[in-house]
Amino acid sequence: MTGVLVTGGTGKTGSALTELLRGGGVAVRVASRNPSDGDPDAARFDWGDPATHAAALHGMDRVFLVPPTNSVDPMPLVRPFLAEAQRLRVRRLVLLGSAAVLPNAPSALELAARVRAQPGWAVLRASGFMQNFLRPHPLGERIRRHGEIRTAAGAGRVGWIDARDIAAAASALLADSGVEPDDRRDYLLTGPQALSYQDAAAILTARTGRPVRMVHIATDEQAANYRAVGMPAEFAAALAAVEDGIRAGREDQVSTAVLDLTGRPPRTFTAFVQDHANAWVDLGVPER
Ligand SMILES: NC(=O)c1ccc[n+]([C@@H]2O[C@H](COP(=O)([O-])OP(=O)(O)OC[C@H]3O[C@@H](n4cnc5c(N)ncnc54)[C@H](OP(=O)(O)O)[C@@H]3O)[C@@H](O)[C@H]2O)c1
Repeated sequence: MTGVLVTGGTGKTGSALTELLRGGGVAVRVASRNPSDGDPDAARFDWGDPATHAAALHGMDRVFLVPPTNSVDPMPLVRPFLAEAQRLRVRRLVLLGSAAVLPNAPSALELAARVRAQPGWAVLRASGFMQNFLRPHPLGERIRRHGEIRTAAGAGRVGWIDARDIAAAASALLADSGVEPDDRRDYLLTGPQALSYQDAAAILTARTGRPVRMVHIATDEQAANYRAVGMPAEFAAALAAVEDGIRAGREDQVSTAVLDLTGRPPRTFTAFVQDHANAWVDLGVPER
């Protein structure tokens, strides 16, 4: 059997990719720590358990790689997986990477460089996900519970992308539809427009009728918020520091990569909000 191993296959991007690939008749093995009983092509896969890696890769000639989440140091867990994928001659591997460079996380850059160096393999550098505005992301949770966005990003803008468009771009590269990674093998994936958190709050307010206000906080406070929802301290600090980069304009970028790869423009933030209009309904929970 040949097909695509989708790591993170139960996540936002991986599940959308699985649907697209299967819809196009491509065999997909969904990797998860808790594989679904109802899916005969699901495989148990845990980054922390290397014994699961070879079995998940077995027979697959393509891979969508979602690296270990909430980590500033993915390489120790991913390095043996990449070696096994090379040994098994996986011909196409697409890494879900990030446009934002996490401070103090050289291992993430090393991972992207390793993938980029392999012929036929490609790196997606995804901009901030629109889905961060939905639960269970802390940003979406805060909007839903308190009608507010707390950020250290100031008026800095981000080329927000819908995870479904990342999946569509990955699908184009993994489906054998004739799209070959170009020479760079590196795709900056963004939505059609860069928006500040203030812009996003205004769209949410206008489209849902739920007033969403902005609260400007310091980077340290954001790191504490992330620690409070269970993120490891190093990762929480790095993620909060991304907001310094946003404030400095480093994420204020848009690309044509989704259109180039899929033939369709990426979804707008307004369309995303319309698609999830009930997600921000006021729960009536008193503010803390
Ligand atoms: N949010 C953003 O703005 C943004 C921007 C750029 C890049 N990214 C990148 O996007 C990735 C997350 O993608 P997503 O949002 O589509 O995923 P997601 O919805 O957060 O889901 C996480 C996925 O990772 C899997 N997973 C978690 N721990 C695992 C482990 N120990 N072993 C194996 N699998 C594990 C989960 O599978 P099971 O629970 O089923 O095992 C799940 O499928 C991250 O690497 C992040 O850096 C995010």
